Amino acid sequence: MTTKAQAVIDWVDERFPLTSSIKGHLTEYYAPKNFNFWYFFGSLALLVLVIQIVTGIFLVMHYKPDASLNAAGVPVAFASVEYIMRDVPGGWLIRYMHSTGASAFFIVVYLHMFRGLLYGSYRKPRELIWIFGTLIFLALMAEAFMGYLLPWGQMSFWGAQVIVNLFSAIPVIGPDLSVVIRGDFVVSDATLNRFFSFHVIAVPLILIGLVAAHIVALHEVGSNNPDGVEIKKKKGADGHPLDGIPFHPYYTVKDIVGVVGFLIVFSFIVFFAPEGGGYFLEFNNFIPADPLKTPPHIAPVWYFTPFYSILRAVTYPLFGIDAKFWGVVAMGAAVVIIAFLPWLDRSPVKSIRYKGGLFKAILAVFIVAFFILGYLGVLPPTPGRTLVSQICSVIYFGFFLLMPWYSKMDKCKPEPDRVTG
Ligand code: HEM
Repeated sequence: MTTKAQAVIDWVDERFPLTSSIKGHLTEYYAPKNFNFWYFFGSLALLVLVIQIVTGIFLVMHYKPDASLNAAGVPVAFASVEYIMRDVPGGWLIRYMHSTGASAFFIVVYLHMFRGLLYGSYRKPRELIWIFGTLIFLALMAEAFMGYLLPWGQMSFWGAQVIVNLFSAIPVIGPDLSVVIRGDFVVSDATLNRFFSFHVIAVPLILIGLVAAHIVALHEVGSNNPDGVEIKKKKGADGHPLDGIPFHPYYTVKDIVGVVGFLIVFSFIVFFAPEGGGYFLEFNNFIPADPLKTPPHIAPVWYFTPFYSILRAVTYPLFGIDAKFWGVVAMGAAVVIIAFLPWLDRSPVKSIRYKGGLFKAILAVFIVAFFILGYLGVLPPTPGRTLVSQICSVIYFGFFLLMPWYSKMDKCKPEPDRVTG
């Protein structure tokens, strides 16, 4: 480096921790050398977050959160999205990147969480990383739900109607609470305005704050790895973990491979299948919202459907309170219970590589039940489907609540001393 450039860096370093941060978080931050495919999804989640924020900024330049009808009798909000799609140069690309990005976010985050489950990444000392992660997941759900109202299509309107109405089932405060959420007695212009405000500023700020906390917590303790052994326990003479490699350049370069793979799939969907077969953008949402015409079947977007199925699986009133209320409780509990995994898993080993057949079998049943719940959530309910979703909901909660027992009883293999490459 030229002496002039070095002088500028020195000047900055005396006033701001530039070089020390680059060293501490990149060039001298040691990550386990055995990261595999599953470790791409954290950096990919960061990439999608950036895509959503940047495309969102451009969408807001043209979108109008206004439920009143224009001269052609179309809601202004709906028409502004059509305007973005047809008249704004490149608008279609920005909009499809944002709508595909929403589904991509959930695909990446679900895979990222599954990696945590596979390798026991939530176990001590990474409990806080996991808790921040669960909060991120909750915030992401709120963000996606409120964003979905904005195009003011039939599914936007009726989806919001169904979900906000659920809150009215809460005893005592429910009816007033749902009015506060809507800002009105029905989903209306007031609802659209407050959801817009939350979607573009409040929740993104919370998300960014939580992601920052997530990564600060991660860098405090260091990453887990597919073997689930702590690399910090075996250090070389230089004080660095024997099984660690500097994050930069090794993982910055490796993550680019994940980014390229992701962008190939992402571009294919954006350019050739942006509706994702009706799963990413529901066909009913290309019809403007009509408060007088309920669509024959209202289904949430795919990423909510496992939890929506759990909500619908509760059909019995309890303690004189409506089944709808207990459905809401079950749905909320299904998300919150994820945060407790660090204390539910009592296995002597972290990684699935060393867990026994019992844990593996129960995990497989859980995954199948989760997919079935997701599938049933897009279909209209029938008595048979309700029964299947009840069974799968029991499996879902059983996986978590019985974990303290079966994770202890499981016959695990001994964990190696060092990572296995
Ligand atoms: C916007 C969403 C998220 C972003 C941007 C994000 C980002 C990251 C990044 C960059 C890493 C390090 C790289 C890696 O290990 O893959 C990481 C690790 C981790 N994340 Fe996330 N994350 C998100 C959501 C979540 C969620 C929802 C959970 C779980 C509920 C979670 C749990 C974890 C855990 C346990 C680790 C440590 C993994 C290990 O060391 O094996 N994250 N995250």
